[in-house]
Amino acid sequence: MADLSLAGKRVLLIISGGIAAYKALELIRLLRKAGVGVRAVLTRGGAEFVTPLSVQALCEDRVYTDLFSLTDESEMGHIQLSRSADLVVVAPASADLLARMAAGLADDLATTLLLATDKPVMVAPAMNVRMWHHPATIANLATLQSRGIAIVGPEAGGMACGEFGPGRLAEPDTILAAIRQRLGHAGALSGRHAVITSGPTHEAIDPVRYIANRSSGKQGHAIAQALAQAGARVTLITGPVALPEPPGVTCIPVESAAAMHAAVIAALPADIAVFCAAVADWRVVAADRKLKKSGAPPQLTLVETPDILSDIAHRAADRPALVIGFAAETENLVANATAKRARKGCDWIIANHVGAGSDVMGGDANEVVLINQDGATPWPRASKAAIAERLVSNIIKEMT
Ligand code: CTP
Repeated sequence: MADLSLAGKRVLLIISGGIAAYKALELIRLLRKAGVGVRAVLTRGGAEFVTPLSVQALCEDRVYTDLFSLTDESEMGHIQLSRSADLVVVAPASADLLARMAAGLADDLATTLLLATDKPVMVAPAMNVRMWHHPATIANLATLQSRGIAIVGPEAGGMACGEFGPGRLAEPDTILAAIRQRLGHAGALSGRHAVITSGPTHEAIDPVRYIANRSSGKQGHAIAQALAQAGARVTLITGPVALPEPPGVTCIPVESAAAMHAAVIAALPADIAVFCAAVADWRVVAADRKLKKSGAPPQLTLVETPDILSDIAHRAADRPALVIGFAAETENLVANATAKRARKGCDWIIANHVGAGSDVMGGDANEVVLINQDGATPWPRASKAAIAERLVSNIIKEMT
């Protein structure tokens, strides 16, 4: 089994401004308890909410606040400080700090360290819900994510400002779990090849029209990213989505179910296969020229598409050791998904409600039940990134 112990690891914790900064103190306490060495940097904004003294007392190390205190030869230089840790964690990460990170600014100690570091970076955003939904913040986070920066939270709930929605800093134990995942899993799947399908498929009706579904690809892409972070070589075969390619992943874009099927077969052999795509069950016998609006509406002839998951799970020679499917259900979740697991021949199936109001398809959160040989285990509702981390954790336990 993979070593998930954190003892002896080192974290550089950057605390930026915001009412949630007090939670950083609890995070330091939890990290210290787990045997992690913590060095803290307090931004000017952060210092408005927690005192350097309280941070210092918990870290058992001096707190760094000012870039210029590091120019002194007797002090540690900022380059060294940025590289002395195994992981850089920004918690809370304010909208302002995230924007400055995305822009590559280096106008204070925190941003200078973040620009100079060669270590993995994790951010735990915390801000007002409107700031979180602002297109500028969305674009900044997409930029950071495309650079391989891990994002933890935020969680939804009542906010200090009286509004409700996503924007609350993830709880310290959630951040600790993400840190454990990141540090404990580094390299756990190295040498393994994982093939993931993600997103919808588009089935042509004619050269300009197609049938599709509401899948965003967020869950499949998050799983691909988490597998890559655990050291696997990842081939992500994705239908049309509006998402950046996860860093460190080989992306193969496809349109139709038939093309996805061919790409999966071409990507074999693999050790792990995760079928997250919402593959169209039917394709249209497509017209080779644009259907015209003359006379009666056209009759579309539908033909069943290949079942990619079932085909791969039933292969004799090159079946991956661990085949994982998803089951999108609107009713009788566990019973239907259990039957689907048997029918499709996969090892695990991850069942989720996709009924009206579930907000799963296209949304950022997911609520799933893992079904394997031991039965059905419900997982609490969490971000798609957190579900991906948890799944990868289970994969590591199974494969190592
Ligand atoms: N799947 C696949 N190829 C298909 C259809 C589905 O690989 N042509 C995979 C999906 O990626 C998912 C699993 O099969 O991992 C279940 O998909 P789902 O849509 O829930 O099941 P269906 O087989 O389509 O069954 P139904 O729609 O009748 O529930």
